[in-house]
Amino acid sequence: MSLTNPPSSGSLSARTRVSQNLKRSLQATDDAVESRRPGGYTSKVRVRDRYHIVGFISSGTYGRVYKALGKNGKKGEFAIKKFKPDKEGETIQYTGLSQSAIREMSLCTELSHSNVVQLEEIILEDKCIFMVFEYTEHDLLQIIHHHTQPQRHAIPARMVRSILFQLLNGLLYLHTNWVLHRDLKPANILVTSSGAIRIGDLGLARLFYKPLNSLFSGDKVVVTIWYRAPELLLGSRHYTPAVDMWAVGCIFAELLSLRPIFKGEEAKMDSKKTVPFQRNQMMKIVEILGLPRKESWPGLVSMPEYSQLQSLVLHRQPSHFHRGSNLEGWYQSCLKNGGYNSTSSAGTPGSDGFDLLSRMLEYDPAKRITAEEALEHPYFANGGPISGNCFEGIEGKYPHRRVSQDDNDIRTGSLPGTKRSGLPDDSLMRASKRLKE
Ligand SMILES: Nc1ncnc2c1ncn2[C@@H]1O[C@H](COP(=O)(O)OP(=O)(O)O)[C@@H](O)[C@H]1O
Ligand SMILES: [Mg+2]
Repeated sequence: MSLTNPPSSGSLSARTRVSQNLKRSLQATDDAVESRRPGGYTSKVRVRDRYHIVGFISSGTYGRVYKALGKNGKKGEFAIKKFKPDKEGETIQYTGLSQSAIREMSLCTELSHSNVVQLEEIILEDKCIFMVFEYTEHDLLQIIHHHTQPQRHAIPARMVRSILFQLLNGLLYLHTNWVLHRDLKPANILVTSSGAIRIGDLGLARLFYKPLNSLFSGDKVVVTIWYRAPELLLGSRHYTPAVDMWAVGCIFAELLSLRPIFKGEEAKMDSKKTVPFQRNQMMKIVEILGLPRKESWPGLVSMPEYSQLQSLVLHRQPSHFHRGSNLEGWYQSCLKNGGYNSTSSAGTPGSDGFDLLSRMLEYDPAKRITAEEALEHPYFANGGPISGNCFEGIEGKYPHRRVSQDDNDIRTGSLPGTKRSGLPDDSLMRASKRLKE
């Protein structure tokens, strides 16, 4: 997520207001961290006084996510994301971990939209940060998986349309407020039991200044490359709203085919920590979209990895590449395999669906469709009303989120080592400095 690169759309006054609020809030949290060092945070509320932990949901990049119930008059179900401080030996360090958490908090407290996950509150307790979110029963990864079991059965076309519409609405809101998500993928798109889509995991601010280096944590890859836009693969360091739109295109394709459309194998970073060209990922894209061409993407030749792209051509049969895009072929066979047609119960996303998909999976980021334009596309305009409940009219139930009872110890007393890679996270410092400028 980043604060720069404003999209072309959105009301200026609203944008200015939010960025001013953001600036204040970033400065405030920054100051708070400074003034409390080295003594640590003072706690006012304790998590376990307010919430009853039901179980463990997931272990993520930066911490763990638990399911909780409100206590002492507080009603409802919640997901609590626990961020731990970095621990180097016995010394607790406030480096990337807490800064990225603080940045995420600052942003999230400013954001309020029905298609963006709602942050309930933040609790600082014993050097840990707890972010309390509304609980969502599902996410797109889980829904897609459900449709592959026991055998593949297509997600109904009207459900795909509702999911995509809501996702784009949330994204338009983020982009209008100068927020880029940068890690859109099915696992980060949450779905409530009443079928509302909530964009989640706005936690990637830490990657903003060193986007490609920071995609790795030691040897472990922390961000999947399957949703990564071609301009990033070709070395662009500029995140733009178009990067998120590429990911939405990949998600749209995956909802229809139940498989990631560009499932590349990650090239690992070598011992010198040079960032590798993701050749295999680029190949997966080229196999379906054909080679990007400078005639239709003028910026292509000045991409840092342009020579890599050319070497990719040299090592392959030229005929393999020069046939142009086969996205339409991919789409038609996807509809056929999924049983999508106008007489089937699944319905069909039709030719409008293809047109929208092809505009999202446009090589040139400058030409790629924006969230605002996508919402106006005939795919949404034609074909009747769109439900704000993606499950409306859907038979059968989706399984509830798995909550494990094995680990519901959210206590802060023991802090298992959580040392990350050596990359310092200075995104907050630099961002707030930039905002002050
Ligand atoms: N509000 C929520 N309600 C229910 N489950 C959630 C919620 N937020 C996150 N999760 C679950 O926890 C996982 C990890 O959370 P996420 O915010 O994506 O953190 P990470 O940075 O670790 O990916 C998600 O993929 C989802 O399965
Ligand atoms: Mg996530």
